Amino acid sequence: MTVHFIGAGPGAPDLITLRGRDLIAACPVCLYAGSLVPEALLEHCPEGARIVNTAPLSLDEIMEEIGQAHAAGHDVARLHSGDLSVWSAMGEQLRRLRELDIPYDVTPGVPSFAAAAATLAAELTLPGVVQSVVLTRTSGRATAMPEGETLENFARTGATMAIHLSVHVLDRVVAELTPHYGPDCPVAVVWRASWPDERVVRATLSTLQTAVGQEMARTALILVGHAIGAEEFEESRLYAGDYDRRFRPIGTAPRFPEGAE
Ligand SMILES: C[S@@+](CC[C@H](N)C(=O)[O-])C[C@H]1O[C@@H](n2cnc3c(N)ncnc32)[C@H](O)[C@@H]1O
Repeated sequence: MTVHFIGAGPGAPDLITLRGRDLIAACPVCLYAGSLVPEALLEHCPEGARIVNTAPLSLDEIMEEIGQAHAAGHDVARLHSGDLSVWSAMGEQLRRLRELDIPYDVTPGVPSFAAAAATLAAELTLPGVVQSVVLTRTSGRATAMPEGETLENFARTGATMAIHLSVHVLDRVVAELTPHYGPDCPVAVVWRASWPDERVVRATLSTLQTAVGQEMARTALILVGHAIGAEEFEESRLYAGDYDRRFRPIGTAPRFPEGAE
């Protein structure tokens, strides 16, 4: 018996890996994390599967479900939205499973920041503009930010920022970022990327709040930085015609002669 943690992707039911889909189809028990996991994914469950929405359950109650499946020898598909490496609450479940000696594995998913970037058709790391992406959030009722992980500190680097769980404090986000990125810095908010009711607002830091207006929905990503919508950037050296590289040796004395390991 194994608990398969599966990244369910950002919302569109075809944005799950084939491995994730096949694991769902093979497990007699499916635990899924509430409204951010598309119900259409549950159609992959085998007939008669036990399907449980864990949104209203405590960690103890979730472990109880897993314990029952373990006792019955039933594999479990455990679905969380996006990818499991960020804000999935997977860590605490894995720690309990290690304590109980229950086997598990992890299948990655498409994270929401990647889905939002795809909606914008944006490369977040443009040569000569920005080469790093910060995945972050602001503090919430349930989770305080560790000291030092402030928007201002990250903003000092100039990296592209993908700010989660924060659209309800847009005024604070704008106030903290503007001194570092400047009022003209491009920003986009993408609500429910890849869902049928996806919505996008593109603006600058100075126009964002007016552009967003009274929109209250919370499942949104704020992408900020000079790579968003940029046209002024360098072409990557990797594909430059005169760049000598292992897969395309150039000149009379290439660095990686053909046949070299
Ligand atoms: C608890 S976190 C889950 C993150 C998830 N594990 C991931 O890989 O993206 C929930 C937050 O992720 C963002 N999010 C999740 N799905 C989204 C989507 N389809 N579009 C925009 N933002 C999304 C929002 O900021 C939301 O408040």
